[in-house]
Amino acid sequence: MPTALVAPSLLAADFSRLAEEIARVEAAGADLLHLDVMDGHFVPNLSFGIPVIESVRKVTRLKLDTHLMISEPARYLKAFKDAGADALTVHLETCPQPQPILEEIHGLGLECGLTLNPATPVEGLFPYLADADLFLIMAVQPGFGGQRFQPAALDKVRALRSSLDAQGLVTPIQIDGGVNPQNAADCRRAGVGILVAGSAVFGAPDAAAAIRDLSGR
Ligand code: DX5
Ligand code: ZN
Repeated sequence: MPTALVAPSLLAADFSRLAEEIARVEAAGADLLHLDVMDGHFVPNLSFGIPVIESVRKVTRLKLDTHLMISEPARYLKAFKDAGADALTVHLETCPQPQPILEEIHGLGLECGLTLNPATPVEGLFPYLADADLFLIMAVQPGFGGQRFQPAALDKVRALRSSLDAQGLVTPIQIDGGVNPQNAADCRRAGVGILVAGSAVFGAPDAAAAIRDLSGR
């Protein structure tokens, strides 16, 4: 059975105790930290932005995997880099011609990711397989944590994994939204290398056990 890395999504943390919450999941075996930036425009919700990422950067060595659910992400790339982000993932819906922004992210010395909403066909990613360091498949409509996992995401993961494999690319696939210990093994079998999980990690009584279950380690 394949294993996967686990990226707890900070959106599900207690924001009044952010440093403690981050230390808790870091000690529990988190592989990276997923940061959901929302602008109330591309998605109908607001979360946090640059100043919070700067503060998070000061309290962890975990890689900051930053998911940009914002319109016009190109305007803020340098600011995210300066705040301490390690990877920036943009949506195909906000970047229909993503090559220039992916190159720009690389030019800043960061990893770049490409993602798409549940309603967008996965084939939209196929022209850019060689251009990103990670691909993120959304298993929920972006905007809110705690939603129910949409199993159709697994078909997208399988199609994407075989297209990457066919080109000899080992680029990891992330899945995000509603991931829990009940569907994690299906995700791993489908070809997911990085499981993003908010409620299933921060809401678990034992974060280490939750991360172990999810990862299959
Ligand atoms: C949804 C975000 C997710 C979310 C995951 O817009 O991209 O990262 O925080 O939360 P859970 O795991 O609770 O569905
Ligand atoms: Zn996310």
